[in-house]
Amino acid sequence: MARPKILHSCIECGATSPKWQGQCPGCGQWNTLVETVAEPAAAANRFVSLAGDEGAARIVTLASVEAREETRTPTGIDELDRVLGGGIVRGGVVLLGGDPGIGKSTLLMQAGARLAAVGQVLYVSGEESAQQIALRAQRLQVDAERLQLLTEIRLESVLARLAEAKPLLAVIDSIQTLYSDALTSAPGSVAQVRECAAQLTRYAKQSGTAIVLVGHVTKEGALAGPRVLEHIVDTVLYFEGDTHSSYRLVRAIKNRFGAANELGVFGMTERGLKAIGNPSALFLAGHAKPVAGTAVLATLEGTRPLLIELQALVDTAYGAMPRRVSVGLENNRLALLLAVLHRHAGIATGDQEVYVNAVGGMRVSEPAADLPVLLAIASSLRNRPLPAGLIAFGEVGLAGEVRPVQRGQDRLREAAKLGFSRAVVPKANLAKPAVPGIEVVGVERLEDALEVAWR
Ligand code: TYD
Ligand code: MG
Repeated sequence: MARPKILHSCIECGATSPKWQGQCPGCGQWNTLVETVAEPAAAANRFVSLAGDEGAARIVTLASVEAREETRTPTGIDELDRVLGGGIVRGGVVLLGGDPGIGKSTLLMQAGARLAAVGQVLYVSGEESAQQIALRAQRLQVDAERLQLLTEIRLESVLARLAEAKPLLAVIDSIQTLYSDALTSAPGSVAQVRECAAQLTRYAKQSGTAIVLVGHVTKEGALAGPRVLEHIVDTVLYFEGDTHSSYRLVRAIKNRFGAANELGVFGMTERGLKAIGNPSALFLAGHAKPVAGTAVLATLEGTRPLLIELQALVDTAYGAMPRRVSVGLENNRLALLLAVLHRHAGIATGDQEVYVNAVGGMRVSEPAADLPVLLAIASSLRNRPLPAGLIAFGEVGLAGEVRPVQRGQDRLREAAKLGFSRAVVPKANLAKPAVPGIEVVGVERLEDALEVAWR
């Protein structure tokens, strides 16, 4: 069989060139040309041909389309089902990204073994030998009887086996080890990763097999890694959390079949990943006595309220440029908040170094963290702990106003459930029917919040 024609196309602008060049002839960007398979002319000209359009799509009205729920199969691992939006979807393609060694293979083996009880599951591994995988299955004590295994890295062979087996779910571990005969680039290159993912996606849509692609995040966190695939697949999940601690977070970055930003929490144990049902307890440091420089935030992760301890350390600076360092929170936001703290509450930190940290390797990006961050900073600066049992949330604006955040009621309920007795929140978030078990104080200005928090 003749090799398909190869082109080099720009990943930025789409311009093509028959030969590889350092600079794109279309947009002038450097190093953006990657190998791609040229589409046959017939397919490319499909839209201009007037004759013979049988098989082409017809225009329909939206009302005439039957809105069917996707058929979902739950994996039985609650925290994974939560991020998937209920389970795997027929023909759906999921990308599971994360650092090497964080637990991607472990999670998929556990989920695969469970799903194998209801349908055929094929685990395609290009990374590990069959022996290594068998060893892991033994360690995880999963039912190895039903799980089918294929160690293969050639895409065409994988597709042929899939077409024979027609599984319910196929796991590709990992997309970076696959290569297609059509391209000459090495496995793991942008060209190969894109081509293999595109072919597998096409197969999933045609056959109804759900596919999970494992993608390693490269050191730069971007290319040849999962990022180039995000637009091709239906669902993008990323493993977060550091490999030094035992728990792992799986976050849905994109989900065509469910809510994005949903979070699943797992603990890595001797026998694989265990779902953690009450994750708030993880992100609270649990001090025996209140300590200065900490405040508890009630945040939302997807649809789930979560309590996280925020810590601040304010200390005399000796250099000309005091450092502002934040771990798990946005650095620019910290600089902005310190300016608001100075201007509107009269608390100066210009000669101080300020460090803030979200406990447990958690990343918080929502502005609701503003108020507790500032409370923690003020607490550290004054060396006065906040009263025990206090939580806070609220966005702080440049004018010093405390603005409402979404779903305050749910946040308060989670706090009350975990035994917190007092909350400082934006006035606009004051719960209409009061949440039992927690005293809620509404504030309009940052100055007020800094006062009532210690009362
Ligand atoms: P793995 O799933 O192989 O990571 P990835 O596929 O993301 O590269 O997980 C590897 C790590 O998990 C490894 O450091 C060992 C640890 N681990 C456990 O702690 N318990 C277990 O039961 C298993 C299978 C792995
Ligand atoms: Mg692995």
